[in-house]
Amino acid sequence: MNVKPILASNCLVFLPSRLLTLLAILTLSVSFSAVGQQPGADGMGDALYPQLGNGGYDVRHYTIGLNYEPELNRIRATTVISAVATHALSRFNLDFYGLTITLLSVNEVAAALDRIGQELIISPAESIAAGEPFSVTVKYSGIPAPVEDPAVPWTKLGWHEYAEGAIATTNEPSGAMNWFPSNNHPLDKATYTFRITVPVGLTAAANGVLTQTIDNGDDTSTYVWQMRDPMSSYLATVVIGDFTVERDDTGPVPIRNYLPRDLSDDAKEALAKTQDMMAWMIDKIGPYPFEAYGVVVVPGFRSALENQTLSTFSPHMLLPSIIMHELVHQWFGNSVSPAGWQDIWLNEGFATYFEWLYAAETTGSPGIESLIPDLSPALKQPPGSVEADALFGISVYYRGALTLSALRAEVGDEVFFDILREYYQRYAYSVASTADFIAAAEDVSGRELDALFDAWLYSEEMPDLPQSPEHTTQ
Ligand code: ARG
Ligand code: ZN
Repeated sequence: MNVKPILASNCLVFLPSRLLTLLAILTLSVSFSAVGQQPGADGMGDALYPQLGNGGYDVRHYTIGLNYEPELNRIRATTVISAVATHALSRFNLDFYGLTITLLSVNEVAAALDRIGQELIISPAESIAAGEPFSVTVKYSGIPAPVEDPAVPWTKLGWHEYAEGAIATTNEPSGAMNWFPSNNHPLDKATYTFRITVPVGLTAAANGVLTQTIDNGDDTSTYVWQMRDPMSSYLATVVIGDFTVERDDTGPVPIRNYLPRDLSDDAKEALAKTQDMMAWMIDKIGPYPFEAYGVVVVPGFRSALENQTLSTFSPHMLLPSIIMHELVHQWFGNSVSPAGWQDIWLNEGFATYFEWLYAAETTGSPGIESLIPDLSPALKQPPGSVEADALFGISVYYRGALTLSALRAEVGDEVFFDILREYYQRYAYSVASTADFIAAAEDVSGRELDALFDAWLYSEEMPDLPQSPEHTTQ
């Protein structure tokens, strides 16, 4: 017996064939969209880094359990990612580079994996429905290999061993993927737990607060750190070494610095100003966004980087100006992060501006405007439309900062600081684009400011700084 012809004659025989085709298409598309599955995108549409980040889900929390063996310079790690699907997912990607994966599961069921370059392409045994929370567990090991990135050719990006038993991770912009799998773009912020196991004698620090130190009874200890505020992957850090920990609880925010035992007195003196700088920034912009602050000083590291709650410093960079610069980033960069990498002047221009303003207000040194004659040939590159290889170039820092000077001269002191505070409050713990900043400036000032921002951020020729309003009123 065959039921099909009977069904066909019962239901469909009276319908004209056009309508039939339409019905068939409708039925198909209804059943398709009921499932609605599609693969998650392999990027987030970043203008400079199209492959960084992925689409189709939103990470809520990373738990990074990591065991470091100094004599082999090897890590063995398990990262568990808790995420929510933003559309039904047949498969999705994570960013991860190098290291060998030994186990991969989605909701604790083994999942299929393809790797192409930095993309992990994960096909779960069962597809994930839109809005569904899910977890991904990735177990991996090996010796992390530095990530090549045109923005920072001078540094080893990601996890790197700077001396025997001395590890630091510096991710910005793309290096996170050499030590944990992630949605590696500032747009997808998440909270973090770090459980770092090291041989007794070494100390492990990471973002946030140390909530537990466990003696494992086998000559290793596990340091548990919690980052309970949202954080972009480029600001995640783990540092391992032989440190002394110096605390300063005399101000509004607990400070704990992880320092090499032979740090110079000059460097210690410069660091002692941190609470003053903190109070100054709180007064200018508003409460410090996180639970704690501090720096970690890594011999052999040649830069400074504003990792969230724990800025990483070369011992040679512990100057008041750079200490201030990295502190300012906790507000501008870390709490308000760039929506795309081309918005980097919102980080570096702001940190540079406040670095100079603090120096001018506390030591009477000249403002950043005094630099224009020396730097103007280098400032031809518009900071609002940089390429990846100029992300940390002089124009982003100085012409970015001068853009704020120009805005201040245009709208006056009071409105200028109102703009910065309004912009900060609107986007705290989130991300903002250049357009978001311009909109905040126009809202608060009630003025049309496109011409000013076009000239400063997007035009080849650097404009002259306008006269400040006090000068122009007479
Ligand atoms: N954001 C840093 C700063 O201005 C510079 C970033 C350089 N990147 C790096 N991986 N070291 O302080
Ligand atoms: Zn900076």
